[in-house]
Amino acid sequence: MSKKIIFSGIQPTNTPHLGNYLGALKNWVNMQDEYDCIYSVVDLHAITLRQEPAKLRAQTKETYAILMALGIDVEKTLLFVQSHNQHHAELAWTLSCYTQFGELSRMTQFKDKSAKNEENINAGLFTYPILQAADILLYQADLVPVGADQKQHLELSRDIAVRFNNAYSETFTLPEPYIPTSAAKVKSLTEPTKKMSKSDENPGASVGLLDSRDEVIRKFKRAVTDSDAEIVFDEGNVEKSGINNLLSIYSAVSGKSISDCEGEFAGKGYGDFKIAVGEAVADAFAPIQTEYERLIADKAYLEGCMKSAAEKSLRISGKTLRKVYKKIGFVQYQ
Ligand code: TYM
Repeated sequence: MSKKIIFSGIQPTNTPHLGNYLGALKNWVNMQDEYDCIYSVVDLHAITLRQEPAKLRAQTKETYAILMALGIDVEKTLLFVQSHNQHHAELAWTLSCYTQFGELSRMTQFKDKSAKNEENINAGLFTYPILQAADILLYQADLVPVGADQKQHLELSRDIAVRFNNAYSETFTLPEPYIPTSAAKVKSLTEPTKKMSKSDENPGASVGLLDSRDEVIRKFKRAVTDSDAEIVFDEGNVEKSGINNLLSIYSAVSGKSISDCEGEFAGKGYGDFKIAVGEAVADAFAPIQTEYERLIADKAYLEGCMKSAAEKSLRISGKTLRKVYKKIGFVQYQ
């Protein structure tokens, strides 16, 4: 029996952070044996917010190398840069004619991002979920490993696929989200009711995968908690959102259950707990950083990987795009 297909993407808008890692990237790595995995550094998505060209170029390479350093094995997994494959933009246009204005207007991420970027509410920011649907549907993905914030976009991808399949005939596989049970939404360290985000202006809010050990521990030491002194998980209690976040992070990084973590820190103070979480995160990052340094220094190797992945992705996505064009009624030639 053939393996199920996995697709997911990450924007190269800044160095990937702990939320990206625990919410999505850890699963990307773990899924490689059981599934046929396809992952993309989605630079076309990144330009919905204004990017500085040199920085975008550097961050795309950095993100690609970080994914390899995390353990994405390019011998068995397809890891490509989205703009190297023009089919994504082509299918996105096509699917935009099968997506309703009202559906896009309901996307909470659009509402959040347009509120934060009032000076640049461009059409791409609005149609972004269609490009995401195209990414997934081009590869006939069964499962999409993402953090909880992407759930609404995935529901839309399914709705678009169903609509197209019903209008013509079975064309797209319907994708399912694959969201971790813990740490699906890692929160900001400085405002723990908000999600940890790459675009946060406060550098203390998020922990980057390339932050030094000292920086990681310092950020955790300063993490906002509350005025109690009990290290217990209290789901849904906004007052405890800081401690809930730290416990979720510690549990995900150490592989221990939340109740074991509570037991481990029973009777201890917040100060000791925060240092322990920081150390556990820094320990998890250390081998990734060593491998990253090795990879990023080998420009020719990275570019070679990108090129062969781009070619392979074009072959797979080309099959879907041809099928779509034929069904719509576009003239084909041999
Ligand atoms: P992006 O680049 O914002 O984030 C990459 C992945 O990290 C997850 N994530 C989080 N998980 C837990 N806690 C957090 N604080 C946190 N922040 C981010 C995201 O859910 C995501 O899985 N639109 C996508 C990229 C994309 C995509 C796709 C994903 C484009 N095409 C196709 C899946 C399939 C995004 O902006 O992710």
